[in-house]
Amino acid sequence: MAIDRFGRTINYLRISLTDHCNLRCVYCMPEEMVFRPNAEMMQDDEVLYFVRLFADLGFHKFRLTGGEPTVRANIVELVRDIAATPGVRSLSMTTNGVLLKKLAIPLKEAGLQRVNISLDTLDPEKFRRLTRWGKLEDVWDGITAAETAGLAPIKVNAVVVRGYNEKDVADLARLTYEHNWQVRFIEMMPFAGATELQTTQTVQSNEMLATIETALGTLEQVNNGKLDGEARLYRLPGARGTVGFISTVSAPFCAECNRARLTADGVLRMCLLREREINLLTPLRQGASEEELRQLILDTIWIKPWGHGLADGITPLNRVMSEIGG
Ligand code: 5AD
Ligand code: SF4
Repeated sequence: MAIDRFGRTINYLRISLTDHCNLRCVYCMPEEMVFRPNAEMMQDDEVLYFVRLFADLGFHKFRLTGGEPTVRANIVELVRDIAATPGVRSLSMTTNGVLLKKLAIPLKEAGLQRVNISLDTLDPEKFRRLTRWGKLEDVWDGITAAETAGLAPIKVNAVVVRGYNEKDVADLARLTYEHNWQVRFIEMMPFAGATELQTTQTVQSNEMLATIETALGTLEQVNNGKLDGEARLYRLPGARGTVGFISTVSAPFCAECNRARLTADGVLRMCLLREREINLLTPLRQGASEEELRQLILDTIWIKPWGHGLADGITPLNRVMSEIGG
């Protein structure tokens, strides 16, 4: 089992499968984003090697992210091999949904269990502005396909940006009346790449909650206010689904963090919002033994930072979000 010096058990690995994306969300990456050459990225056998190593260390929950994981060549086969790795009990994906119309069923059949789909607004024009060229209809078709395929429970992620979609939270919350989804509102976080927008246009959860309650009535707490993963959950009266808030900035959940991240270029990062990281791919390619890599991982987990430093104005600048994995 892998534990850190604060006694947290770390057993959840988020793997970025690519830094590429078929959208360019304003809060995530610059429009003229330059992607890294494929040779610098983990190849399928290298991803599988690390999945096996982490599973041996007691990791049992895995999430595939990006960039956009569905644009990776051979994604269905890769999911099949990851799902079949002994020790992998939970396998999910964070996706923008654009390609799910085509991929939902093959991914489910390959062993993917759940998806989180990003959707920041229900207004096609605002959606295009937020993603720079995306078509809302594609994502909607993707969500429908995911639900039909049984990639459930469906979670919808909305990053809220002032001047773009802060008024749209009520319409998104309204989806839970009809659908048994978890619609989660995410406070925008600062990274390299879009930092000016990220530091000036954030909206905090309490403001989103007030906007929803003004439009739709009082939200009832679910689970007595206990966190569900990273989200605090509520329900609109009579709704089938739940509304969640991920308050990374205004109410950090670092004390309960059980995650590590593997970037698309094979670097282990112990906190999304801290720059410190340890390269695993280079030693693997240089012939490090399994025992050496295992020790490197355990040593890195041991010194996982307590939490992020946003409250002290410390922002990670060495990578954009799509390189780290959301
Ligand atoms: N702040 C918060 N969430 C972000 N994401 C991308 N950029 C940011 C940011 N600056 C989220 C997306 C998606 C996942 C890949 O990361 O909404 O859910
Ligand atoms: Fe792509 Fe997701 Fe980043 Fe949007 S947030 S540009 S969909 S990786």
